[in-house]
Parts: sequence; structure tokens; C-alpha cells
Amino acid sequence: MGSPWSPSSWQTKPIEQAVQYPDPVALERVLQELSQLPPLVTSWEIERLKTELAEATMGKRFLLQGGDCSESFEDCRAETIVNKLKILLKMSLVLVYGTGCNVIRVGRIAGQYAKPRTSLTETRNGLTLPSFRGWLINRPGFSQQERTPDPELMLRGYERAALTLNFIRGLVEGGFADFHHPEFWDLAFVEHSAYAEEYRRIVQAIGSSIRFLETIAGRRLDEITRVEFYISHEGLHLPYEQAQTRQVPRRTGWYNLSAHFLWIGDRTRNPQGAHVEYFRGIANPIGVKIGPSISPEELVELVRILNPQNELGRLTLIHRFGVSRIDTCLPPLIEAIQRAGAVVLWCCDPMHGNTVTTATGRKTRSFDDILGELERAFDIHRRLCSHLGGVHFELTGENVTECTGGARRLTEQDLDQNYRTDMDPRLNYEQALEMAFLIASRLQRRSNR
Ligand code: PEP
Ligand code: CO
Repeated sequence: MGSPWSPSSWQTKPIEQAVQYPDPVALERVLQELSQLPPLVTSWEIERLKTELAEATMGKRFLLQGGDCSESFEDCRAETIVNKLKILLKMSLVLVYGTGCNVIRVGRIAGQYAKPRTSLTETRNGLTLPSFRGWLINRPGFSQQERTPDPELMLRGYERAALTLNFIRGLVEGGFADFHHPEFWDLAFVEHSAYAEEYRRIVQAIGSSIRFLETIAGRRLDEITRVEFYISHEGLHLPYEQAQTRQVPRRTGWYNLSAHFLWIGDRTRNPQGAHVEYFRGIANPIGVKIGPSISPEELVELVRILNPQNELGRLTLIHRFGVSRIDTCLPPLIEAIQRAGAVVLWCCDPMHGNTVTTATGRKTRSFDDILGELERAFDIHRRLCSHLGGVHFELTGENVTECTGGARRLTEQDLDQNYRTDMDPRLNYEQALEMAFLIASRLQRRSNR
């Protein structure tokens, strides 16, 4: 692509999921204000993440990305944020054990407020209104006023992202997780699993490793290592993203300074479209979600546009096919990337291809389908001499009932107990931790073979 790029060049391209604001003057005022506010993250943090993702591509690190499908403004609370951070930290320790390498933690957090929708309208009892598009754009209540896009919400979203990130930074600096307390792991659910012994063994092994490390260093772990934590969101709402796109002193290029990592969704990855145009010009490490509808040719074209220099760490391909389709969809894509000589980090999102709707109309996902897709993903990459370097989950640190299965064998009937998501069903605390245990034990078993 030879045409010049600028933070606004996407505006000349066809766009999916665009938002129509009723008051263009109010929109302009908000975007102007947003573009003047200080950034959330810095270019050196972004560059450090890119280096770490480059190492993950080489098999020296492993990426764990996770968080809400859609963050709610109402969940911008201390407890929810702490719980989300804690579950990601615990999963990452388990994955360090399983993969034998350092884990990069990236939250879908502090800005994951805009959602692509399959249908742009929703009908209830004969009334049709615009769909809820995420808190950055409109409100979830079902009235004309709440569903009308409101540009002020971008300012509210930016502020909440800043509040969330500010708290995260404080927590990770202060060593908020005390590995030394047995309560740290909160393993009550383990009793319900057939693999209880194995999970306990993993926790014990992690404990011994930490003690060993601390003995050698003569200091506590939280004094030796600062927990690194990065933030990410889907770069969907381009007017908002454009307002966050800045140049910084002594570096070339443009950075989106509202997140360390951004990704393009499966619905907006048209190589000729506005989202790809915007993403090709930013310097951040980026991801693309790829689902069953992408062809090998289109994927190669996309990779060439988004990473023309074949820069290591720049591009993560996040595949999400569903357990029943990964066997047919993934191999041709891996082979096409190998033939093209492209370097990408492969990451598996075992959530978005496994969504089903229950008889009562609830969206859910089964724990076994999620695990099944992940296992196949590891196997397929291995068989084709490729490397799966990361996993991507929708999860929460709360005790919600949105996905079925797991140690407590949640059924569809149990979903009503605490079904809270505005969008897609998330693994709850126990299911998320168990998922990490299962990945770790399978990877361990393999490497011991
Ligand atoms: C998501 O990550 O919440 C999402 C909408 O995913 P995808 O673009 O893969 O459908
Ligand atoms: Co989702």
C-alpha cells in the first residue's frame, strides 16, 4: 500500500460498525477535548511490550490476555478490578509453571468499552431500537434516549480507563498479591474436580519454586520482581482511537497512547477497510482476530498490510474458530503464513467460536468446548511445526454463572444464579483458574514425555 497514512486516513475507507451521532458539533467538541487530555500509557511501555511479544513469538515467553468481553462503567470499582487482576496473576503463575517461560499479562481492561454487534438494532415487544454498542457509545437500558449514541460517553470512558489504570498501577507497584498466604489461591472449588490432586500438586510446586527463588535472592519475591501488567482493548471506535493517536519526542511514528496493545475484531478486518487502514499506521503491537470466514489469501494480504517490514512482536494473530471448526480452519492458515515467510505470534481465543444460546435465550459457552479448542490449537501448531504462543480469554474474577461446566459442573439451569455480563459469557474465577491448571498440566505432561 503506497498511499500516505495519517491518523485520519481511515476516514476515506469503507467502514464497518460505524456510529452515527445525532449532533456532529457535540461530537467534534468531545474529540477535540479528548485529543488534548494526557495519555494513559507511554511509548516506552508500548515498546517494552513489543519486545516481550517478539520473545513470545520465539517461544521464550507466553502471552496471557484476558478480561471482560465488555467492561461496564458500573464495574469500575476497587473490588472488581482487584479480583480481575488477581485471577490473571494466578493464571499467569500457573502458566509459568506449565510453559516453563515467563508470562506476559495483558488485560482486556481500562478501555474495553466498545463492542461490534452482529445486528445494529434490537427488538423487544415490538419496539425496535439501536443495539447496545458498549458504554463508550450508548447505554444498555432499553429506551430511545439510552440507546442514542452520546459523544460525552467517550470522555466518561477515557476517565474510567484512567481511573482503572491508575489503580492497577498502584496495585502492581505495591505487591498487592501475597503469595505467602495459603488463602491466596482460594482453592475451595478444587474438591469438586476429578483432578484435585493434580491442581494441588501444581500449587505446591509453584510455592516451592517461589521459596527456592527467595532463598537464593535473600529477599521476598515481591521485592525481586515487579509484576508487569499491560492493558488492551479492541480498537473499534475509530474517532476515539484517532483522538488518542500521538507523536512522542525522540521517537518516529505514531502511537495510540490509550492502550499498550490494540486488536482488530473479526468483523472489521477487511484489508481494504477503515480499521485496517488505521491500524497499519500505529506503532503499537497489534492483534487481529481471525474466524472461520478468513481465507489463507486474505490472511496473507492482511499480514502484509499490517506488518510490511515483518517486524517481530508487531503482529499477533488471535484465532477463534470453535472446537468443531478449528481442525479444518487453522491448518491452511498456518501453512499460508509459513509459505509467506511472515513472523507472527499465534494466540488462541477459545471463547468466541464456542458461543451458544440456551433454550431460554441466554448466551453461554461450555468449559469443555473452550478447553477442547485450546487443546486442538496446541496440537495443530505442534504438528505443523508452528508455535502457539498465547491464549486469550473472556473472564472475570467474580463468582458469575455465565459459562457452563468446570469443577462445579454448572448447568444451563444454574446460569440464572448470577448471570451478569452485558455481552459475552465469561469464565468465572474458578473456571478461569481451572482452565490454567488444565493447560499447565497438559503442557507439563507433554514436555515430560
Ligand atoms: C471480542 O473479543 O469480544 C469479539 C467481539 O471478538 P471477535 O472479534 O473475535 O468476534
Ligand atoms: Co466477546
